[in-house]
Amino acid sequence: MAAIELKSNVYWVGAIHWNTCTAAPRGTTFNAYLVVDEQITLVDTVYAPYTADLINHISEIVAPTEIDNIIVNHIEPEHIGAFPEIMRLNPSAKVYVAANAVKGITNVFYKDLNINAVKTGDSINTGKYTFRFIETPMLHWPDSMFTYISKLKLLLPNDVFSQHYASNQRFADQVDEASVMESAKKYYADILNPVSQIVLRKLAEVEKLELEIDMIAPSHGFIWRKEIEKLIAAYQRWAQMNTGKKVVVG
Ligand SMILES: [Fe+2]
Ligand SMILES: [Fe+2]
Repeated sequence: MAAIELKSNVYWVGAIHWNTCTAAPRGTTFNAYLVVDEQITLVDTVYAPYTADLINHISEIVAPTEIDNIIVNHIEPEHIGAFPEIMRLNPSAKVYVAANAVKGITNVFYKDLNINAVKTGDSINTGKYTFRFIETPMLHWPDSMFTYISKLKLLLPNDVFSQHYASNQRFADQVDEASVMESAKKYYADILNPVSQIVLRKLAEVEKLELEIDMIAPSHGFIWRKEIEKLIAAYQRWAQMNTGKKVVVG
């Protein structure tokens, strides 16, 4: 599987994990994204055994030593496993994480990092593009955050909106809709159901930011480029089923 251009200057550089287990009966993917601008930015990495896949995919686009910024939306091992190798190749790259991730990430990688704790409202500019950060604590870990690139109308929400689903296709609209939604629902039930109240609050908060979004690229499974409203509505439905709360978000 090669790197895939998702939209102009944005590439999927992740890995596919075909092995199945009870939690992931269709396997899964570890999605990482490369955004090419005056500065090169990598958003998330992959599970450690797939480090070579990540490096190979990046190499199809740029030299893997040319990364200027690494955004870590979440520090679970499946997303940060290749981080030490990326840092070895790019020792002076700037690392952006939520404040809650600073301790965890320095535990994973002991050398001095150019680490920058970011909070909701903070942003970085890489040339043409501005990356905005939105903290999403407890969705599903204290360190979790979303990254949003306004000019690209692209939301990178890490585990939120994920599905455990291995496929050679990268977009949700390329496969059977019922099976993707079933996988998204199972993922929600397994990972986010206990924090449904926070899901509803965060969806409402993001709605208030009035972000224009035409692509949602999560950290597992397919990328959503069509009928995004359907996915968001499903999240509201699943969250409301758990809390009994009615929240109107357009
Ligand atoms: Fe996670
Ligand atoms: Fe994950």
